[in-house]
Amino acid sequence: AMDQYVTELVDKMTLDEKLGQLNLLAWDGSLTTGAAANTGVSQKVEKGLVGGLFNIESQQERRKIQELVIKQSRLGIPLMFGQDVIHGHHTVFPIPLALSCSWDMDLIEKTARAAAYEASADGIDWVFSPMVDISKDPRWGRVAEGAGEDVYLGSMVAKAMVKGYQGADMASDESVMACVKHYALYGAAEAGRDYNTVDMSVLRMFQDYLPPYQAAVDAGVGSVMTSFNDINGVPATSNKWLIEDILRNYWGFNGFVVTDYTAIREMGFHGVGDLKTSSALAIDAGIDMDMVSEGFVHTLQSSLEEGKVSMETIDKACKRVLEAKYKLGLFKDPYIRLKKDKVDSQKQKELMDLALLAAQKSCVLLKNKDNILPFKSDQSVAVIGPLADCKKDLLGTWVLSGELDQVQSIKEAVQQKGNILYAEGAKLTDNEDIAKLINYNTKGEDDEALLKKAVLTAKKADVVVAVLGESAAMSGEASSMADISLQATQQKLLKALVKTGKPVVLVLVSGRPMTLEWEAENCAAILQCWAGGTQTAPAVSGILWGDYNPSGKLTMSFPRKVGQIPVYYNMKNTGRPFYPGIKYTSRYLDVSNKPLFPFGYGLSYTSFEYGDLVIKDNIMDQGDTITVSVTMKNTGEYAGEETAQLYIRDMEASITRPLKELKGFKKVYLQPGEEKTIEFEITEDDLKFYNKNLEYKVEPGEFQIEVGSDSENIKASKIHYQL
Ligand code: IFM
Repeated sequence: AMDQYVTELVDKMTLDEKLGQLNLLAWDGSLTTGAAANTGVSQKVEKGLVGGLFNIESQQERRKIQELVIKQSRLGIPLMFGQDVIHGHHTVFPIPLALSCSWDMDLIEKTARAAAYEASADGIDWVFSPMVDISKDPRWGRVAEGAGEDVYLGSMVAKAMVKGYQGADMASDESVMACVKHYALYGAAEAGRDYNTVDMSVLRMFQDYLPPYQAAVDAGVGSVMTSFNDINGVPATSNKWLIEDILRNYWGFNGFVVTDYTAIREMGFHGVGDLKTSSALAIDAGIDMDMVSEGFVHTLQSSLEEGKVSMETIDKACKRVLEAKYKLGLFKDPYIRLKKDKVDSQKQKELMDLALLAAQKSCVLLKNKDNILPFKSDQSVAVIGPLADCKKDLLGTWVLSGELDQVQSIKEAVQQKGNILYAEGAKLTDNEDIAKLINYNTKGEDDEALLKKAVLTAKKADVVVAVLGESAAMSGEASSMADISLQATQQKLLKALVKTGKPVVLVLVSGRPMTLEWEAENCAAILQCWAGGTQTAPAVSGILWGDYNPSGKLTMSFPRKVGQIPVYYNMKNTGRPFYPGIKYTSRYLDVSNKPLFPFGYGLSYTSFEYGDLVIKDNIMDQGDTITVSVTMKNTGEYAGEETAQLYIRDMEASITRPLKELKGFKKVYLQPGEEKTIEFEITEDDLKFYNKNLEYKVEPGEFQIEVGSDSENIKASKIHYQL
């Protein structure tokens, strides 16, 4: 039915109308994140020269524009409204990197479902999420928007989010279409500098970077956004091999492909050609929708006349866009997502509860010396730091519709816990260049005065909570940093606080892993709370006072020094693996090869003991499954949740293989003293990899099986696979 409907419609369309469907515009005067902005949008809409719109503020506005196109344009083809709904809409969930630290796919799916619910109620049909770019470089500001460094976990998160957004029925008024991005390899930008070049072997792409996009396709994602970067010399936006060969033909994707913001125009800066050449290259490579560049509407007609682009290519793209609208139910009812009243109060409460749980589960306890946390109720606490009295910065990057009046600052939340003192302590940064770029006002009280007050306040309390880190604008798009330590003013403050001799608990608000060597050495405890969304502050105060036992585990390694980057858990052995005390091995003279906090790491208020691995039969024949069981015990005093992780190392293969790869995990909740035996099933699939002919296969031989509480702290055993 869809095919017939869309084909008949395309037959009625003029060339201008077809090109109009391929034209995605940002609303006049809205946020500009690229080389150009659109103007005169409503006039273009009226003439049927626009296929979709984004960055519109309200449901009311969207409705007005939909009415315009339905009533005024010749064919009345409904618009599709997109938006960057990245981690919640009005109710803001933790930034995706934080959320991935929950390792809880059900929770992640629920947050995407909730975002779909609120966004669809506002007239949004289409969200530019999930971002599934694997990144091993915390200098890149957009690590905040992804699920970290691992391809296995990243693929699971991709699937959960697509399912959450699109639901069981994309045509429902409570579902939206997802857009997996940024295809491809955007997170592998050289030196972590946003938009930078990517040059990578095809084998590595398939092994470590492409699977999450594929997982989103397998989950039925409706659309794909290409990335800004070039890949091995070809911009992603004109990369036919990526879009046609891999995405469509190899993975079977049948939705539509949109560019990123002005990416076609930017092909000129890549040095590929002018707008006309770039537009022709892009549509020929398989792009269906041009975001903001207006290259398709302005140049494809002449490229068609010159025989550089065919009508068949334009028709195909137009059909794919119309099919998306069909799948969203827009042809049946263009106002399907433009009717609902505001979310009711019962639902509102549910969303806030979900946001609290998500924020709690995203926090990662990195250090807790002598069990200083949780606090005892009679302790007096000084809360100090430039992020203690903020709200917006707790929401993180890409928050276009977050409701600030639902947000408490950490200071406000902890004040409900008892005897709390407060001082600002320092400005976020005293670097004027950074301040300008992130719109931060460095004026105000003099630095020395702030510091002095903070020290006096700290001295009056039993313990100090230092709330430090990054503002929301210091991570996310166009927010790469070469130095990922705390800003100088904050370091100075922290040193002064530690010097008072009071135990200092560092609560870190950030959108990326930071370098924290000194902090890890000198603070009594560190709680990484990221930007946890609307409910960050209650989550943090609840954790500090023991109402909630933290269980988050890092999904990205924390480097000791920037010079180690990329440092990630699934490295290869090299031919000269590190050996202590020996110089001619793969090492640094001045720093360990290990990160400060490894992938999978995170503490709890309780302790868990892992028994030895039990494998009944360690010979695996073709088609077999091997069961690995481990007994876990809660040996501490609190009930708590632990994520047991399964890693596999292929000991010998036709190509060099990583030291280990995540292949499974189980979350277990245990009461104090309680013991549970968990099982992992290992199948052939878990042993497969891409060989040098890009075949995904298992090879016979020995495999090391590891289970543990993080990627370094493991128990190991061996299995043997034979043909
Ligand atoms: O969706 C985003 C993308 O992630 C980065 N550039 C702008 C797009 C639309 O706002």
